[in-house]
Amino acid sequence: MTSAATTHRDVHGSAPEGVWSAPGRVNLIGEHTDYNGGLALPIALPQRTTAAASPRTDDLLRVHSVQTSETVEVDLGTVGPGSPAGWAAYVAGVLWALREDGHPVRGMDVTVTSEVPLGAGLSSSAALECAVGAAASGLFGLDLLGDDDARSRLATACVRAENEVAGAATGGMDQSAALLCRPGSALLLDCRDGATEHVPFDLEAAGMVLLVTDTRASHALNDGQYEKRRRACEAAAAELGVASLREVDPAGLDAAIDRLSTDELRRRTRHVVTEIERVRQAVAALRADDLDEVGRLFTASHASLRDDYEVSCDELDVAVEAAEGAGALGARMTGGGFGGSCIALVPRDSADDAVTAVRAAFGARGWEEPTCFTVTAGGPAARDA
Ligand code: GLA
Repeated sequence: MTSAATTHRDVHGSAPEGVWSAPGRVNLIGEHTDYNGGLALPIALPQRTTAAASPRTDDLLRVHSVQTSETVEVDLGTVGPGSPAGWAAYVAGVLWALREDGHPVRGMDVTVTSEVPLGAGLSSSAALECAVGAAASGLFGLDLLGDDDARSRLATACVRAENEVAGAATGGMDQSAALLCRPGSALLLDCRDGATEHVPFDLEAAGMVLLVTDTRASHALNDGQYEKRRRACEAAAAELGVASLREVDPAGLDAAIDRLSTDELRRRTRHVVTEIERVRQAVAALRADDLDEVGRLFTASHASLRDDYEVSCDELDVAVEAAEGAGALGARMTGGGFGGSCIALVPRDSADDAVTAVRAAFGARGWEEPTCFTVTAGGPAARDA
């Protein structure tokens, strides 16, 4: 594929002033916890979204996608909730949010290209937002990549773009992962106070791989189901009289659940509280090099997401079961669910068998062949050129 910089020259008529990129992510564990003030443990993917960009002196955003060969023009003065529609919302929304924060952002000529598969639950939207945010920071001298505090502020602007302009009520883990992860480590993210820790995540030495299966089952976070889960958690917290489900003590979970008014709220709460606890346990297991335990926690997380949180789907369940049947220590859906991708912790020698098993299971059901690939923990958003 031609690079973003080459295409930029063709589309916009001159070389870009710079090139920035940001990664997709997989979350190792801690799903649907971020908007509950909980813990999550993502890694950045080696796959990245790249933005070649030049500043403009007016308020026009001209953004070209190498993937779709589309060029969209947006007057920044017209950006707001629901406008523009489509993928341009993720680009224009970031510039809008930065301006809302008082940053001196003007229009830009941008060319984007992505190695992060779209709609696969691997945070292609956050990668796009963060690549564009990094570009705006560089072009307008905002210094938002300088240190982790500045990066967190940029993450917040990207979340606003997604929540307020694109209309997806997502929680912020993905943008934090794209901006704060470090190569070779998972990011332990405390979404109550924004604290982070880097937990070494190098499976190579242990003879293991992390296998991602993009099920190709459709996945969208602004179709209502994701938001419904979020509102249920808020309702449960309100019934329990706490600010968020993070405040529910795992030791008192049964008693808390007994006080909730509906079975739906009881199950949603049980998932969130036990999932936050599983993140703590997974971090301890990783630090102790106990990958068997990490695998067990993956499997328990998947069951909780499937049965209590009800965000899995047949394709994810089949991918998880097939990987486990072929020797994975554990497997789970990753990301928001309702389609998207699953991850499996697999001994390196069994990786081919796991891929064959997942493909065969899909083939037997007449489903489209899934995409399987292994990943390692990559680096955060950065200037490339
Ligand atoms: C999506 C959202 C995140 C998070 C996950 C589920 O990826 O963007 O904020 O809620 O789903 O853990």
